[in-house]
Amino acid sequence: MTALAESTTLAELTTLRVGGPAAAYLVTTTEAEFIAAITQADDDGTPLLVIGGGSNLVVADAGFPGLVLRDGRSGWILDSADACSGASVTVVAGQDWDGFVAAAVAERWVGLEALAGIPGTVGAAPVQNIGAYGAEVSDVLSKVRTWDRQERRVRTFAVGELALGYRTSLLKQTLGQAWSPTPRYVVLDVSFQLRRADVSRPLRYAELARRLGREVGQRAPLGEVREAVLGLRAAKGMLAEHVVGGNTAAPEHDRWSAGSFFTNPVLPLERAERLLPAAAPRYPVRAVIGAGMSGIYRTEVDPALVKTSAAWLIERAGFTKGYGLDGLAGGQSCSPATLSTRHTLALTNRGGATAADIVSLARAICDGVQAKFGIELEPEPNLVGLTI
Ligand code: EPU
Repeated sequence: MTALAESTTLAELTTLRVGGPAAAYLVTTTEAEFIAAITQADDDGTPLLVIGGGSNLVVADAGFPGLVLRDGRSGWILDSADACSGASVTVVAGQDWDGFVAAAVAERWVGLEALAGIPGTVGAAPVQNIGAYGAEVSDVLSKVRTWDRQERRVRTFAVGELALGYRTSLLKQTLGQAWSPTPRYVVLDVSFQLRRADVSRPLRYAELARRLGREVGQRAPLGEVREAVLGLRAAKGMLAEHVVGGNTAAPEHDRWSAGSFFTNPVLPLERAERLLPAAAPRYPVRAVIGAGMSGIYRTEVDPALVKTSAAWLIERAGFTKGYGLDGLAGGQSCSPATLSTRHTLALTNRGGATAADIVSLARAICDGVQAKFGIELEPEPNLVGLTI
């Protein structure tokens, strides 16, 4: 068990690089140690913040008055593999997400290729049902083993029990309750059911299909899909740090972010028709229709709902790429916190930002989008000790 210096700050532990000191910070290296640390904190009434890669987290400048805990394990085990049903794989929560995706593509396990380059850990993936480029982790999840802080026992959820939706799950729903800012159920490991093939699932995202020279609905070699997604993410400044490599020449402030800062608003059809300009993007919303005996999660398009683009609304409300609250110098905002210069959905730290700077920018954007379109934006990251 590794206890780090008391002076560890949340700025050092998060990709947005803001946030004050952690009262205590611990990295555990076995499941037993991880559970013991959670139980000890709960027994003592110590606030608990379990973190993964710190890529979806914004903590206040005052810091965190409790234990910040990280599962330092990595790796996975192959539970079973056969030509018909594919591979069943269980991955420990602390494993880096993209490292597992890279290995899955190399093994010809299908279904994770479009989720390449997402920062963070495997344990965090089901909490907000991570998704990108037409795929969601719910497509290939089979079960999640957790530590239940209320009942103090290991509890396993089959995919159909997890209430998975667009950037949400049962795990995330228990985050705002008495257990805050960590869910009641803390992920220990995640199991996937993955088919084996050389080609991807049918492509669902127009931008990705275009980059691959294919149509939506067609398939492409797994490795090509992964490379194309990494290219798209790099162009948007939304790549996991280790994929970018050891280029430390100039800090890439567009990547000092928490990814998408807001979720894409989901509106009832009638509201969408009333509020959205004709040119606004409209995406289908997939609703859960159940999980079969195989554990494979099934969704279908809900015709009563429309998802639009938060990035589009932000940009058309006047917050263009690189926008900051302070004035311009040489065409660029001199604010410590600005929108990414590559994507209006990422709030970024230009080097000296505080959590308060991020909050002020987020508030201005929410207010501006509300005033222009009558639509409320919801923050996507876990906000600790602060509100927008
Ligand atoms: N757009 C703008 N300005 C921009 C960027 C985008 O107007 O600066 C508009 C364009 O119309 C574009 C549309 O927004 O077509 C959608 O942009 P993009 O394809 O980049 O996707 P997104 O909806 O902004 C979502 C996810 C991302 C995921 C991408 C790709 C959410 C909140 N975000 O972003 O996930 O990588 O799709 O699938 O659902 C994350 O959750 O942290 C995340 C990065």
